Amino acid sequence: MAQGYDTPGEGMFAPEKVDPAVARLVELAGGGAALEFAVGTGRIAVPLAAAGVPVTGIELSEPMIARLRTKADEAAIPVTVGDMATTGVPGDFSLVYLVFNTISNLLSQAEQVECFRNAARHLGPGGRFVVELGVPDLRRLPPGQDGLVFAHREGYVGLDTFDIERQHLVSHHISFDNRREPRVIRVRQRYVWPAELDLMAQIAGFGLEARHADWQGSEFTGESRSHVSVYRLPAAG
Ligand SMILES: C[S@@+](CC[C@H](N)C(=O)[O-])C[C@H]1O[C@@H](n2cnc3c(N)ncnc32)[C@H](O)[C@@H]1O
Repeated sequence: MAQGYDTPGEGMFAPEKVDPAVARLVELAGGGAALEFAVGTGRIAVPLAAAGVPVTGIELSEPMIARLRTKADEAAIPVTVGDMATTGVPGDFSLVYLVFNTISNLLSQAEQVECFRNAARHLGPGGRFVVELGVPDLRRLPPGQDGLVFAHREGYVGLDTFDIERQHLVSHHISFDNRREPRVIRVRQRYVWPAELDLMAQIAGFGLEARHADWQGSEFTGESRSHVSVYRLPAAG
């Protein structure tokens, strides 16, 4: 996946996706340093560092880090290999952020709570933890059905299958352009409602400072498909 992850200028790498996220994270860092959980190939970390925010990363996948290293060396963006729910890194951070639905990659509630606790451990008083996450698509699922096509175009079908009892879904990315056999990439996730996320934040000592539907600050409503939530530790004193 690391090999095909980057799509410079397109998809999640399009300037209209990246630039508003970077601008908002610069503002939320408030002049301090940032730690990205699951930094990947540096889609956000590289432009955020270029904007003047010192960025450190934690990442589980060494192939993803190798891609990042083609863009930024260890001195520019230090990265520790490890699990974002448990790994500690040195440094003083005013901001921890976890974008692109990646908290869902932790497959149990306990691990997701640990992730919030780990964010809190890296922050001082008034520090912020920003989470970007989709709203579960369950309203589109009729009773008795457990699968949904979430995207389709020539040569590609995206299908989500749900295990509602476990609060899991598997996204199947099926590509069949010019191939005899389709290529299928499956990603298992634990989906989370905003209210459950708020409770996890509370357990770790955070309060909800802001929630918007996107990085530009659009109002979050009952129709929003995703959210950017800003959690904050109490200020000192
Ligand atoms: C969708 S990518 C997001 C990467 C990057 N944050 C971005 O916005 O492009 C998800 C990343 O999370 C990493 N990941 C998954 N589970 C992780 C964990 N428990 N701890 C650290 N990284 C993890 C994957 O290796 C992958 O690089």
